[in-house]
Parts: sequence; structure tokens; C-alpha cells
Amino acid sequence: MKTIIAYTTRHGATQQVAERINDILGGKAEVFDLQNNRINLKDYDRIIIGASIHGGKIQGRMRRFLRRNKKKLLKKELGLFLCSIQTGDISVKQFNKNFPKSLRNQAKATALVGGAFYMDKMSNMEKSIVKKVAEIDKTVDNINYEEVERFAQKFL
Ligand SMILES: Cc1cc2nc3c(=O)[nH]c(=O)nc-3n(C[C@H](O)[C@H](O)[C@H](O)COP(=O)(O)O)c2cc1C
Repeated sequence: MKTIIAYTTRHGATQQVAERINDILGGKAEVFDLQNNRINLKDYDRIIIGASIHGGKIQGRMRRFLRRNKKKLLKKELGLFLCSIQTGDISVKQFNKNFPKSLRNQAKATALVGGAFYMDKMSNMEKSIVKKVAEIDKTVDNINYEEVERFAQKFL
């Protein structure tokens, strides 16, 4: 089964999760930054998709990709994961709002994998938002690697 793990990220947390998933899958998947590249979905049987939430939304590039390729994605084995700092009900709502229902229903596995604030990668504007909203001014890594493991295991 040919697998691609396609992600969008702002500061690298989602990429880190994508790479960890690939490690668990034995390093045989293609790990692909969707931001500046196009995928030919025909080449893959299984698509694992990851994005991160900023201001309640995943990256515009990923939103457009999901919208344009929904029909093709519905014919594939699919996984969806989301990086966010919110947990519990709020993260579930964010997930449901950002990933179309048909894709959520089609997915073999879904995961809310937590998130990280990498201060050194943020603009001053982002730092001040994070400080104001989350009262955080240092790098914080809350990626839930157990959840990443559980998710990836579904594709073994
Ligand atoms: C400016 C900014 C806004 C954010 N907004 C949200 C949000 O609305 N909801 C949330 O759960 N997490 C929010 N986050 C947390 C990110 O989702 C989290 O840091 C994630 O790990 C980022 O992943 P990335 O580095 O792959 O972009 C925000 C982070 C930043 C820096």
C-alpha cells in the first residue's frame, strides 16, 4: 500500500507528528509538505492528512486541498489528524469544523494530537497573541505522542 502523509504547518509541530507517524509505519511513507507542492493523488492508496489550528482554522492551503480533492480522497484509505493546543470538547469542535463530514466519516482513523508553541519560530505578533490568550511566553511541547502512536497503529 503506497502511503503519503500530507501536512500543513506554521511552526513545525505538525511536521514533527507526520514524521513520527512515518517512523511508526516503518519509514515507508512519503512525508509531504503541502504548502508549496502539489500531490498527484493517483499515485497513492492511502492518504494521511495533518494540519494545525491557528485562530480556529487550519491552513488555507489545506482547506482548499480538501475541498478540491474531496471526491478523490473519498476513494482512498484515509487518516486525519489535527494539532491544536486546545483539548477536550473545544478541540473536537475545531476538528469537526475544519475537516468535512464526508472525509471524517471515510477516515479509518482520526486523532487530536495536541500541539506545541515554538517561541523561537513565531513572529512578534504571534508571540504577543500567545502571551495574551494562553499566558505562555516560553516554548511548550504538549504533543500527545501516545495518541500519535494509537493513530499510527491503525495503519499497520
Ligand atoms: C497565533 C496562534 C494562534 C493559535 N490559535 C489556536 C486556536 O485557535 N486553537 C487551538 O487549539 N490552538 C491554537 N494555536 C496552537 C496551535 O494549534 C499549536 O501551537 C500547534 O501545535 C501548531 O502547529 P504547527 O507548528 O504545525 O503550526 C495557536 C497558535 C498560535 C501561535
